[in-house]
Amino acid sequence: MRRIPPPPEIDSEKCNGCGLCVKVCPALVLVMQNDLPKIERAQWCIGCGHCGAVCPVDAVVQKETAVESHLTVGPDPAVNPEALQQLLRERRSVRFYKPKEVPKEVLEKIINAGRYAPTGGNSQNVHYLVLTTPGEITRLRELTLSFLERSFRIVGNRIGALWVRLVAGFRALEKIRDYEPGILDVIKRTKQGEDRLLWNAPAVIAVHAPAWDQTSAFNCVSAIYCCSLMAHSLGVGTCFNGFIEHSARHDRTLKKFLGIPKDHHCFGAMTLGYQDIKFKHLVERRKPNIEWR
Ligand SMILES: Cc1cc2nc3c(=O)[nH]c(=O)nc-3n(C[C@H](O)[C@H](O)[C@H](O)COP(=O)(O)O)c2cc1C
Repeated sequence: MRRIPPPPEIDSEKCNGCGLCVKVCPALVLVMQNDLPKIERAQWCIGCGHCGAVCPVDAVVQKETAVESHLTVGPDPAVNPEALQQLLRERRSVRFYKPKEVPKEVLEKIINAGRYAPTGGNSQNVHYLVLTTPGEITRLRELTLSFLERSFRIVGNRIGALWVRLVAGFRALEKIRDYEPGILDVIKRTKQGEDRLLWNAPAVIAVHAPAWDQTSAFNCVSAIYCCSLMAHSLGVGTCFNGFIEHSARHDRTLKKFLGIPKDHHCFGAMTLGYQDIKFKHLVERRKPNIEWR
């Protein structure tokens, strides 16, 4: 069942009847009646807070989203396009960390950035898992390695390969085969003590959300990406980690160890820590594939 937030309240004394709240409501909760907004379908409210945020006379309050004194948004966006483009380019995968812990307050700041990422239907259904103790990170590494090894054993025999081909398709099997030598090397080196899996990171964040919600993947990915940008601005480097995500998605033991509920999927993970190397240059990327219509 969808969680229904408290619907907005309208102060008819203050309201000037401009109708902006009705116009911006994406869920058709409000209608205009006798030149004033009226709550028509409270049960459809997604609690996004647009109604209160747009009201020029502060006559609409959506209790869940209201801040004590509404922060007034400036006339221009907080970041200019050039600065934003620079930030997006500056964020690189950081795989070398100082052996220094990331304080809890800093991790909280990083996660607070994910909080403001969009979620389908404003479900805010992203869960964060933060690992900071060496013992837990070691166990995560062991379980991920063990799952990867087992996976390659399966793909290595004919029946296993056929199964992967049927379930995931020929291209997926081809991709696994392409990556196999490199990943086997990652496994070998990591087992020898050169951690090419978690990069000796002092912290790991994974995001998970209900598997049955078709917006969960997007919600988690956008949230963790926002976190990575905030981390960068705090001098903390991050590296997304497909090995953790994939293994936590498919391996019950790892999922259990991480405490991810059965009906959730892990949709993203990253290692993080204070950056031990600095990039001197930005890099170029291929031109985007765009089809103009
Ligand atoms: C979904 C996803 C999974 C990734 N998994 C890993 C990983 O397991 N290990 C790793 O070292 N880098 C991983 N990366 C980082 C990519 O290699 C990296 O983003 C890419 O090479 C571009 O470099 P940049 O992030 O520095 O711009 C992953 C990135 C994404 C988006």
